[in-house]
Amino acid sequence: MLTVNSLNQFYGQSHTLWDLEFEIPDSACLCVLGRNGVGKTTLLQSIMGLVPSVTGDILYEGQNLVNKPAEYRAPAGIGYIPQGRQIFSQLTVEENIRTGCFARKNFKSNTWDEVYTMFPVLASMRKRRGGDLSGGQQQQLAIARALMLEPRLIIMDEPTEGIQPTIVQEIGEIIQRLCSEKNITVVIVEQKLAFARMVGSRFIILDRGRLMAQGDMNLLSDELVQEYLTV
Ligand SMILES: Nc1ncnc2c1ncn2[C@@H]1O[C@H](COP(=O)(O)OP(=O)(O)OP(=O)(O)O)[C@@H](O)[C@H]1O
Ligand SMILES: [Mg+2]
Repeated sequence: MLTVNSLNQFYGQSHTLWDLEFEIPDSACLCVLGRNGVGKTTLLQSIMGLVPSVTGDILYEGQNLVNKPAEYRAPAGIGYIPQGRQIFSQLTVEENIRTGCFARKNFKSNTWDEVYTMFPVLASMRKRRGGDLSGGQQQQLAIARALMLEPRLIIMDEPTEGIQPTIVQEIGEIIQRLCSEKNITVVIVEQKLAFARMVGSRFIILDRGRLMAQGDMNLLSDELVQEYLTV
């Protein structure tokens, strides 16, 4: 699905990502782990074409995304949910979801039904303004909006940030269903280790822009956690 080779990224003189190499199989959930400021968001933004000076290869379904404009991603089936979610607080739930359709060419009318079936709470709040929703509901709204693209790959930056613990589990179950029921490949940045272990099938660990470890989630050892993740 996605293969990253020799990925480097620079903000001006500052070399942020160093020689990253990893692969994500179809329908897997890859968790990008690492302490604050190690380059997790920059990696996602490099995949999305949102940061300058990316070199190397990012092969998505055989096509190299490096040097392709950011707008290439959505029609190619790549959905992105940025850190902080960035929903439109003045638009209604339904209008927010509709903004996810813009990049679509052939729109299947039952996508709305599928999305509302997956998120009943959004169906019941469709006329409410996005800004009036709780953090967990806003995260569901951001995922619903991304699903309107019928994506094959969804990239999420810290989906549980600022969400009540009771709702975190619900978000985790939704992400698992994206992979298992909809066969979507998912990449998430996640700071909560229990959540990463719950939803992730694979992990990579970044430290100061370098890839320190990767593997199946069940190989994420206490030693790795101690060395690269605890603060
Ligand atoms: N637009 C930018 N211009 C210059 N440097 C930046 C820019 N964005 C991020 N950086 C720097 O790049 C490094 C990686 O930042 P990034 O936001 O990717 O880290 P992160 O792992 O997502 O952190 P967090 O866990 O706090 O979200 C940091 O040193 C940061 O200061
Ligand atoms: Mg970040």
